[in-house]
Amino acid sequence: MEKLSETQIPIHDLIRRRWSPRAFSEQPVEPDKLRSVLEAARWAPSSRNEQPWAYLVATKDNAEGYQALAGVLMDSNRAWAGNSPVLILTIAHTRLEKDGQPNRHALHDLGQATANLIFQATSLGLATHQMGGFHADAARERFGIPEGWEPVSVIALGYPGNAELLPESLRERESAQRRRKPLGEFVFSGTWGHPASILDSTETK
Ligand SMILES: Cc1cc2nc3c(=O)[nH]c(=O)nc-3n(C[C@H](O)[C@H](O)[C@H](O)COP(=O)(O)O)c2cc1C
Repeated sequence: MEKLSETQIPIHDLIRRRWSPRAFSEQPVEPDKLRSVLEAARWAPSSRNEQPWAYLVATKDNAEGYQALAGVLMDSNRAWAGNSPVLILTIAHTRLEKDGQPNRHALHDLGQATANLIFQATSLGLATHQMGGFHADAARERFGIPEGWEPVSVIALGYPGNAELLPESLRERESAQRRRKPLGEFVFSGTWGHPASILDSTETK
């Protein structure tokens, strides 16, 4: 199923095609493709080149590891994400390597690396769905995540599946319209809240 972004202005096809489905195929993800999406994360920019990210990957062919990660998801997410062949826990290093002081860009940089991962996945025909709905403390304990590192999200990754096979409530959400704020609500110039003049010639306000 496709759910192309209805953009106000033309954008790159990869960005247009990405969305967050709940239907995943059982088809395993080839290890080469999985390595490729992780390599894409590796090449993200980061403040001071700290690369303050880590990814804990669980694939369905390792039932124990997969169940451990699926087990920290909130029930409402596990209901569908438990069908994806790959789950990835994303973790931010919130302290600087050099002196252990707080890294205030850690979440930003993890997000950028994760965006790289997601668009690489999209380019390979893979679907992704990120989740904040998981038990971070349980994840920390179960996977031995050290002090100074924060579990942030879990990504479900796999080939797109058949939405018809989802339970009815999820099927409805799968086909719901995608919503975005207009550009004029968050692109400012001059002072806060003043829509940027660059938007004047578009239907973006
Ligand atoms: C950090 C983060 C946490 C999210 N948490 C959840 C979640 O717990 N459960 C869920 O179903 N979707 C979750 N989402 C998906 C968002 O709801 C989704 O990205 C948003 O509605 C926009 O839809 P789109 O990705 O299809 O464009 C999360 C997305 C992000 C980036």
